[in-house]
Amino acid sequence: MPVMLPTLKGRKINLRRVHKSDAESIYKHAGDEEISRYTFLPNPYRLDDAYRFIAVTHTALRAKKAFNFGIEYKEEKEIIGMISLEHVNFQHLFAETGYWLGRKYWSQGIAREALQLVLKFGFEQLKLNRIYARVMHPNIASARVLEKTGFKKEGIMRKSIWRGGTWMDLIWYAILKEEYKHIKADWK
Ligand SMILES: CC(C)(COP(=O)(O)OP(=O)(O)OC[C@H]1O[C@@H](n2cnc3c(N)ncnc32)[C@H](O)[C@@H]1OP(=O)(O)O)[C@@H](O)C(=O)NCCC(=O)NCCS
Repeated sequence: MPVMLPTLKGRKINLRRVHKSDAESIYKHAGDEEISRYTFLPNPYRLDDAYRFIAVTHTALRAKKAFNFGIEYKEEKEIIGMISLEHVNFQHLFAETGYWLGRKYWSQGIAREALQLVLKFGFEQLKLNRIYARVMHPNIASARVLEKTGFKKEGIMRKSIWRGGTWMDLIWYAILKEEYKHIKADWK
């Protein structure tokens, strides 16, 4: 049976499946070294990378390994970033979230809104028990979004990533289902 990715409706954004027709938008926003600095997105980012990525999201969805949502800015009806639940484990009911957003859209609360939608999907529809995120230090914006959404810092994996001639620490954050249930009433 095909696995369907629902559209998750928010205020400024919707989260939805990405199609080949979104490749140009993804290419336009992802090709930024401010985005690749703390993610594994290639830099330079080519249009072909976007097409390949879109195909990978479809394969991973069929295998129920990852649920990748395009962040569609409602006003412009364009994909301006991505957010995912990946490494999904239906035995132990956990998944990892990861996200990026085109620079023009930063600091407007969009990542927080996207994370809230993904947590609702992960905990309420996929019935997960734990959602975690790994943040390269010092990605202050990402750490702030996670903390504001209710994630708790769990620890540091020291010198985990070799980047630009230096080692970077990875900070682990996670939120549990019971914490999500408790905190979601306070979300604006
Ligand atoms: C991380 C990212 C998605 C955040 O998106 P965003 O929509 O700007 O996030 P929000 O607006 O919801 O919240 C950002 C918060 O961080 C704060 N922030 C941003 N940069 C900051 C900095 N350098 N120092 C301190 N706070 C900072 C903002 O003020 C805001 O907090 P506030 O709501 O209290 O004002 C975006 O910066 C991004 O795409 N970065 C590149 C990719 C990336 O790092 N992805 C995450 C990998 S773990």
